[in-house]
This record gives sequence, structure tokens and C-alpha cells, in this order.
Amino acid sequence: MNKRETNVPEKDLALQREYMSRMLEINERQLSETGRRPLAAVRTYGCQQNEADSQLIRGMAAEMGWDFTDNSFEADLIVLNTCAIREHAEHRILGNVGALVHSKRRNPRQLIAMCGCMVQQPKMTEHVKNSVRHVDLVFGTHALYRFPELLFKAHTRRTRVFDIEDSDGMISEGLPVRRDSNIRAWLSVMYGCNNYCSYCIVPYVRGRERSRSYVEIMKEARELVSSGIKDITLLGQNVNSYGNDLDDGRDFASLLSDIAALPGDFLVRFMTSHPKDATKRLFDAMAASPRVARQIHLPVQSGSDRILAEMNRGYTAESYMKLIEYARGVMPDIAITSDIIVGFPGETESDFVATLDLLRAVEYDAIFNFIYSKREGTPAASMPDDVDRVEKVARFDRMLTLQQKIGLARHQTQIGTVQRVLVDGLGRETDFPLSARTNGGRLVHMRGPAELVGAYADAKITSASAWALFGEYIAK
Ligand code: 5AD
Ligand code: SF4
Repeated sequence: MNKRETNVPEKDLALQREYMSRMLEINERQLSETGRRPLAAVRTYGCQQNEADSQLIRGMAAEMGWDFTDNSFEADLIVLNTCAIREHAEHRILGNVGALVHSKRRNPRQLIAMCGCMVQQPKMTEHVKNSVRHVDLVFGTHALYRFPELLFKAHTRRTRVFDIEDSDGMISEGLPVRRDSNIRAWLSVMYGCNNYCSYCIVPYVRGRERSRSYVEIMKEARELVSSGIKDITLLGQNVNSYGNDLDDGRDFASLLSDIAALPGDFLVRFMTSHPKDATKRLFDAMAASPRVARQIHLPVQSGSDRILAEMNRGYTAESYMKLIEYARGVMPDIAITSDIIVGFPGETESDFVATLDLLRAVEYDAIFNFIYSKREGTPAASMPDDVDRVEKVARFDRMLTLQQKIGLARHQTQIGTVQRVLVDGLGRETDFPLSARTNGGRLVHMRGPAELVGAYADAKITSASAWALFGEYIAK
């Protein structure tokens, strides 16, 4: 049983459905008067959780009679689903929203909405309220399910609408979803984060951890598999916390095993795992099922124990390495990726070298490295930071160069192997028209017929770069 108070009450969801049908009536009227449906553009910044939220926004918009476009000048509604993880993301978003004055000038009835993590911060909402006056509607992460009501109000009353209620966040089940692929799908299993890593804004903008009910997740997983989805990514800020707030004794490892046991030809993967909560039990559950992808994203953030403690990560480089060894022990072919922050306040050359040493020891398949960005309101924002920007950029480049070597070497070991890949679509490489992914999530530029899109196929790997593999289709 889920603790019910984490879910949005059914009567509140019913109210939103009411607004959806009222909005639909308005849009149907427009269709009969003008011969065209109103168009919405939904833009996503940031992580997979935001991508998944945007699919709900599109789902609700479609239910309300909107069609979709990518063109700002053509759109009657523009929704920017924003990210707050680094300052750079916020600047980019503010630049992009600023540029929308032009489309709004041409079409004054155009509605512009901002939602998501960036506008969940009160200071940012104040800024938008006072200084970005062509934005009509602002709603934070906790108000997502109220999109129909807020949009209806902004549309019919033509006043600016702001809803950034500061709650712990609830779970809303049953919202319409519009997926952008019939091959791969996200499946949210938990929301929020309680970890309070000292640099990170997420716990403040996404609220406390809450798990979806097992029954709802299994129902959605079954629907995905029976609709032909071939690859499911279970999503959560820290999937290993799944179940901590439930009283049914389930944890993430058991959820994963149950999904993997569903009948069908598909793979299930997940992100993100916090190393302090990743257990042998989790790796054993992965190893026990061929339906679980041999891939784990296990962000280490730093290889220096001093910095890890300052970051409030709850593990050491040594305990992290033990996890990696265990994972490789039970799944020798597992692909391992990581996030790393360069230039955390007070990071010395020897802290940084410890991170490079860890990169060499682990031999990641890929890393995502970021220069530390100060986030107002987090503990790290008040830590003294005496490393200058030029030095941080130099460290970032050194890390990239090292990982490029490691990635290339790892990819080269794949040359000559035949791998079962899932063909996602047509790629950009003219000599290799197909874009596919291996079980471990590596990108494969592939030669083969277009009919393979959406199917599993065997690919012989013929060459490799630091970022991708190249291969050709082997007919059975
Ligand atoms: N500065 C730089 N990178 C950050 N991340 C999170 N917060 C910050 C920050 N303030 C990175 C972490 C995390 C990834 C999603 O973003 O590496 O794992
Ligand atoms: Fe941020 Fe840490 Fe939570 Fe990840 S685990 S979302 S880095 S606070």
C-alpha cells in the first residue's frame, strides 16, 4: 500500500479534467471558426525527469485540443519547461524566453508559460514577474497537474497567472501522456530527493522523496510492454530510495526484478543510482535477469574523500571502487557511466588528481563532467572558493582529454564483436544511415536497411570513436 497522503486527491484531479474539457470546448470552437487547431510548442531543458514531465504537459495539451509545432512564430502557446541545476542553464533559458518578445509582438494573443525547477525558486519567479513581462503563466514543479486550470485562467482571463506553491510535492496518477517514441519510454518510479548533496538545488525545487505505488508502476510497465515499447528507463532522482516511504516492504531491487519478469521482448534500465544506496542486492537483481540492461549510471562526483565529505555524498572513493568491482564481478560486460563535478569550492590540485586517478581505475564508458556552479540557498554556496575560473576550465579540459582516451580504448575492445542493438531511427552519418544503441546504451552508427527502425538487430562492430561505435547489420 502506498501512503495515500502523497497522492493528489482524486477530487483535485477530477477538477483538472473539468478544466481540460472546458479548454477543449474553446479550442474546438476555434477549429470550427478558423479551420485550424491552436498550436503549442513545448520546450524542455535539463534532465530526463523534465523530459518525462514535458510528455505529461503535451499529453494534457493534446487532451485540451492543441496540436504541436516547433516554430515559435506559429505557436499560440509556448511552454518552457525549465532547469535550475547550473547557472548556465538558467542564463540560456532567460535568453531564450527574452527572444520570445518577437513572436509575441507578431501574435499578441500568444500565451507564454514557464514551468519546472527554475521557476520553483521564489527569487526567479519574482524576477520573471517584474522583468520578463511577456510571460503569462508561471507554475512550479509541484503545480504540474494543475496545468489545465492555470492555462484556462491565463487563456480566458488574460491576466498573468503565477502558481509556485511551496509544498513537499505530491504524486499525480493518471495524467494523460504523449510520448515522443514508440520504441523507448521513461517510467517514473519516484520523485524528489532527500540527499541534500551540498552543491545541489534539486531537493529544494523537487521536494522530498516520494515513491509511486507498486501497483501503478506495474500497470504502466505492462501497458508499455504490450504497446510494443522495447526499452524502458525507470526514472527517479535516486531510484535506490524507492520504497523507503512505503510500508509494503518493497525496494528498488524487487521492483526491478518484477518489471524484468514481465513477458515480452524488451529491456529495462534505470537512472539515477546514488552510490551510497546502491547495494549488492541491486547488482544481483540486475545480473539475475537478461531483461535488465547491462548499464548503470553511478555518479561519483569526485575521487577525493575530502571533497566527497564536503559534498555530503556519504561514501569514499574506496567504497565506491568496491561497488564497481562487485558490479563487474557479477556482470563483466556492464557499461558504467558517471557524473563528475570539477572545481568544487576548495578543490586542490591533489583533490583533482585523485579524481583523475579514479577515472583511470574505473575506466568509465562515458562521463558527464560539469564545472561547479554556485546555487543560491545550497550549503556549498557559502563555502570559500579560491580556485579561479581559468584553472577550473583547465581541469575540465584535462578530464575530458583523459576520458576521451579511456572511452576510445573501451570502445576499441568492441571491434569485431556482434551485438544485439535496438535501432532507434535514422541518424546523421551518411555512410551509416541508422542510429542504434547496444544493450549497455552505447551509440552505434550502423549500416543497414531503414526497415530495421524500431527493431532489435545484430550489428557487427567495425570501428569506434571515443563517443560511439560503428557497425553493420548482420542478417540472421
Ligand atoms: N554545479 C555543477 N554540477 C552540478 N550538478 C548538480 N548540481 C551541480 C552544481 N551546482 C551535476 C551533478 C549531478 C548532475 C545531474 O549535475 O554531477 O549528478
Ligand atoms: Fe542532487 Fe544529490 Fe539529490 Fe542527485 S542525490 S538530485 S546530486 S541532491
